[in-house]
Amino acid sequence: MQTAAQLRAWQPTAGSAQRQQQRQRLAAAPRRSAVRVAATASSGADLHLFSPCKINLFLRVVRRREDGYHDLASLFHVIDLGDDMAFEALAGTAAADALTCNMVGVPTDGSNLVIKAFNMFRSKTGQKQRFAVDLQKRVPHGAGLGGGSANAATALWAANELCGRPASNEQLLAWSGEIGSDISVFFSNGAAYCTGRGEVVEDVAPPLPLDTPLLLVKPPVGLSTPDIFRALDLNRRSTADGRELLARLAAEGAVQELAVNDLEQPAFDRLPALLALKQRLQAEGPGFSSVFMTGSGSTIVCVGADEPPAFLQEAQYSDMFVSPARLITRQPGEWYAAPARGGAAAGAAATPAAVA
Ligand code: C5P
Repeated sequence: MQTAAQLRAWQPTAGSAQRQQQRQRLAAAPRRSAVRVAATASSGADLHLFSPCKINLFLRVVRRREDGYHDLASLFHVIDLGDDMAFEALAGTAAADALTCNMVGVPTDGSNLVIKAFNMFRSKTGQKQRFAVDLQKRVPHGAGLGGGSANAATALWAANELCGRPASNEQLLAWSGEIGSDISVFFSNGAAYCTGRGEVVEDVAPPLPLDTPLLLVKPPVGLSTPDIFRALDLNRRSTADGRELLARLAAEGAVQELAVNDLEQPAFDRLPALLALKQRLQAEGPGFSSVFMTGSGSTIVCVGADEPPAFLQEAQYSDMFVSPARLITRQPGEWYAAPARGGAAAGAAATPAAVA
């Protein structure tokens, strides 16, 4: 049981109200293989895919645009924490796509990015195919991990596979940017220097070894991406150059000085307890080489070890989502494979988090 003071620590200082707190736990379990394509009686084919999420190793906000978006210079990297998605090509008589999800509160109608991805695929390719998809979520919401965006990318890839690949990877990448800003990175090889809204993707060599241990720590309260971008004070941004950060990251490794995220300022203003959490992870962790927020938060990424520090056992942190993770890439022409080891991507299904 948490005290009132402990619960208040995770109340946002401004913005929409916190609705509820949910426990999100990770329990190691072996994973099944990433991809399975098989004929079924009803539909023709089904496909099981891993839907990984991403972190931002650095994130510079370059300018606020007339259209309300922000131009970024950010190093996105796909990681092995992810959801499971089971797709089925429906019989020709099906009038609509069908989405089911284990996480209460996730919309399953046309507002879900997965359905938007199917609609985009049909309008671009002229295909009429409808799909059923079951989504088993592990990636928390409002986390800065791009979980919903990854689901849309995976759906776009799956639709193309189930229809015999009418589109190229380049086309899928271009179309993904019309659905949202964070989706295109999944059509890179896994490490991408992203500009524009985030949808202009340049493949780069992974700047860190893929086996670099990572620890993700996220409080039960999530943060709203539009709110955080709106609350950014442009005068308080870093002055670091994105290309220089990229070059130095590859040369020097993940040192704290390079872990720049311009969105930490609005996120920490809104949620001071998140800054306190970051500072404790830096001070009391097992010597993480860098600790930083990913995307618009509220996940804090620790680099260099994946053992949770002892202080996370304290009652005030009992509702934290805590997960080890690793950087991953994909082979050209293939989708991301689920990790074979138990650990990062394995775990209890995520539950919906309140968004500040
Ligand atoms: O593109 P997406 O729908 O994911 O973006 C969600 C919101 O986040 C946008 O409506 C915008 O408010 C904000 N955003 C931004 N600049 C970006 C990406 C997102 O301001 N580069």
